[in-house]
Amino acid sequence: MMVQQYTRTAIVLHWLIAVLLLGQFAFGWYLQEIPRGVPERSFFVNLHKSSGILIGLLILVRVGWRLTHKPPPLPDTIPRVQQRIASATHILLYVLMVVMPLSGYIASNYSKWGVKFFNVVTFPPWGVESKLIYAIFNQTHKVASWLLLALVILHVFAGLKHLLVDRDRVFSRMLPRCFPER
Ligand code: HEM
Ligand code: HEM
Repeated sequence: MMVQQYTRTAIVLHWLIAVLLLGQFAFGWYLQEIPRGVPERSFFVNLHKSSGILIGLLILVRVGWRLTHKPPPLPDTIPRVQQRIASATHILLYVLMVVMPLSGYIASNYSKWGVKFFNVVTFPPWGVESKLIYAIFNQTHKVASWLLLALVILHVFAGLKHLLVDRDRVFSRMLPRCFPER
């Protein structure tokens, strides 16, 4: 069966962002372990904000690239309803990938701290200091992190089903060419 692959750019962006996002999740949870008020917290929070901004910019590049490049069509053997669910999940993954860094970035600009980029360059906040606006975007950041995690778990299970149960080569569409065809 001939199955069209994703392009090299799509594959590189997919796996690079997946690894960076999973690391950023772990970093976010680690932040929760650091007590408020200790100096280390500000150091690590600013590091999380800085890496998050860089990942956010990479995500914007990916979204821009995706909007200008069509993905390869799924094989006809995949039922229509399953193809629609896959597209809907992918769109939602993109939306949450944008909401994550954006909500964190906006929240930071409504606190008096702003962002100290890699603890070197201070970007003063462009918003007013507002506990309410900060709380809204901070809560969005938290809720989006759980939604994204749940969707990624679903996404991984769907991928593994194609690889191990259906064995229809859908999984290999997103694998670099150096991996043997499965
Ligand atoms: C790139 C994607 C990002 C991911 C996946 C991510 C993930 C997370 C996670 C999982 C948490 C812990 C949430 C919880 O309490 O359960 C967190 C906390 C936090 N994130 Fe992010 N983050 C990202 C980007 C950013 C950016 C760009 C900023 C700001 C510029 C930011 C600022 C914060 C802050 C300040 C907290 C601590 C909130 C608190 O303790 O109240 N994050 N992040
Ligand atoms: C943070 C983690 C991840 C995110 C945000 C993510 C997001 C995405 C998105 C948005 C697409 C659709 C690409 C497009 O058509 O534009 C996609 C495709 C894909 N992802 Fe992931 N992914 C993640 C992790 C993983 C992991 C760990 C696996 C391995 C099981 C995986 C396997 C795949 C496969 C096989 C495809 C191609 C699906 C197809 O052929 O239609 N992804 N991913």
